[in-house]
Amino acid sequence: MRWCTIGLVVSIIVSHVTCVRYEPNWASIDSRPLPGWYDDVKLGIFIHWGVFSVPSYSPKLIEEWFWWWWKGKKLQPYIDYMNQNYKPGFTYADFGPQLTAEFFDANHWAEVFKSSGAEYVVFTAKHHEGYTNWPSKYSFNWNSMAVGPHKDIVGELAAAIKMNTSLHFGLYHSLFEWFNPLYLQDKANNFTTSDFVDRKTLPELYELINTYQPEVIWSDGDWEANSSYWKSTEFLAWLYNDSPVKDTVVTNDRWGKDSTCHHGGYLTCQDYYQPGKLQKRKWENAMTIDGHSWGFRRNAKLSDYLSIHTLISTFVETVSCGGNMLMNVGPTKEGFINPIFEERFKQFGEWMEVNSAAIRGTRPWKAQNDTINSNVWYTMKGSDVYAIVLEWPQGDTLTLGSPIPSTSTTINLLGYPDQFQYTTRPSGGIDIKIPPIPANKMPCQWVWSFLLSGLTN
Ligand SMILES: *[C@@H]1O[C@H](CO)[C@@H](O)[C@H](O)[C@H]1NC(C)=O
Ligand SMILES: *[C@@H]1O[C@H](CO)[C@@H](O)[C@H](O)[C@H]1NC(C)=O
Ligand SMILES: *[C@@H]1O[C@H](CO)[C@@H](O)[C@H](O)[C@H]1NC(C)=O
Ligand SMILES: *[C@@H]1O[C@H](CO)[C@@H](O)[C@H](O)[C@H]1NC(C)=O
Repeated sequence: MRWCTIGLVVSIIVSHVTCVRYEPNWASIDSRPLPGWYDDVKLGIFIHWGVFSVPSYSPKLIEEWFWWWWKGKKLQPYIDYMNQNYKPGFTYADFGPQLTAEFFDANHWAEVFKSSGAEYVVFTAKHHEGYTNWPSKYSFNWNSMAVGPHKDIVGELAAAIKMNTSLHFGLYHSLFEWFNPLYLQDKANNFTTSDFVDRKTLPELYELINTYQPEVIWSDGDWEANSSYWKSTEFLAWLYNDSPVKDTVVTNDRWGKDSTCHHGGYLTCQDYYQPGKLQKRKWENAMTIDGHSWGFRRNAKLSDYLSIHTLISTFVETVSCGGNMLMNVGPTKEGFINPIFEERFKQFGEWMEVNSAAIRGTRPWKAQNDTINSNVWYTMKGSDVYAIVLEWPQGDTLTLGSPIPSTSTTINLLGYPDQFQYTTRPSGGIDIKIPPIPANKMPCQWVWSFLLSGLTN
């Protein structure tokens, strides 16, 4: 109220200062401009960690759904695994005390995430199992202080990220819980009652935001009910109008089955979303380094992990089409990040050191992928265009179909000192002459960015 009054007084002096209040409906919620930091930074780290990190085993499907595959779907490979390795009568809750987190060091996690060049993190505060990684009042006997680590994992990570890095801190939160009796009762009532939302989901969300002030709320677990059941627009109106993060927070689109891919902040649509062409709204590609799972799998093979070349190529395509990439790691039940993930992050960071000019703060160009060379994706910053090349050109020429040079066009490879010669192609496009570059003078080992200045298009 007071800020509105000040806003009003100021607006008499500075005529275009207004006091926007968002209403609890999708038209109003969707009208909020996305805070600018999010579109600029392009890369985030997703972290899946919870009681599912204890079995950390999945014979075929995504690991963090272990409880559901075992007790919901009753899939034989999961039943067999439990019969062969655990005492009869062992329940999912019995995994809780084994979430020991004895090697959890929030500060080390923060350093490892930062080393990738990412500028935000999104940590699973609560997944579909309902276990909260913070001492929630609304999950009094199924949280990380009561069972397992005996720590406020969310709190320690929030402190380390905020105090020791410039990364934005974000939280994933599942609206639904597979086996929560309150939820199952609402569901049995065809979602005509909302006890679960009123007594669990919403109090938990308010608690999370007021306590940890995350700048990303990555909602999930929405798909069985529509957003009116979840009271999503009411929550988002509070988040955008009155919460402690109202000016900087971004949210995704998973706020009800009528909402996903349509409403909210940025669009995530489905996991691994990669539309391959320019999108009207800001979007995010949530994807995994272990190509088969979000939660850690002890049975992952080296070949299951995406190579750094694949990770960077995926990222470049995403950014070129206007997206951000949220790259997932699953730490172990000990709270440890395995070196295979750490290495991928480090390699990503080395690449970003050289190539961030072609990524950070860029916008999509007129063309996304090249018309001749299918291994090239474009970005733009001001009047500069970046042609990002996934494979080093064969021979001594890089042919591009989309750029139209002017008499003042110059071409540089990021991280390399000399300008490149080129000729204009009579049929359109440009032939860039690639000189022989000694291996030890190559600016990076995977995926190269050419800066094209002074194009006519
Ligand atoms: C920040 O880093 C310093 C130095 O490594 C460390 O002592 C401190 O505990 C860290 N702060 C948090 C909140 O992790
Ligand atoms: C829920 O919907 C189903 C199908 O429309 C119906 O058969 C059932 O009676 C409904 N249950 C309640 C509690 O309204
Ligand atoms: C959402 O569900 C409620 C209750 O089932 C229903 O009344 C309403 O029409 C639904 N809204 C949408 C947008 O589907
Ligand atoms: C550009 O990408 C789209 C989507 O991946 C594809 O359908 C199209 O063939 C590509 N164009 C070229 C010229 O490679």
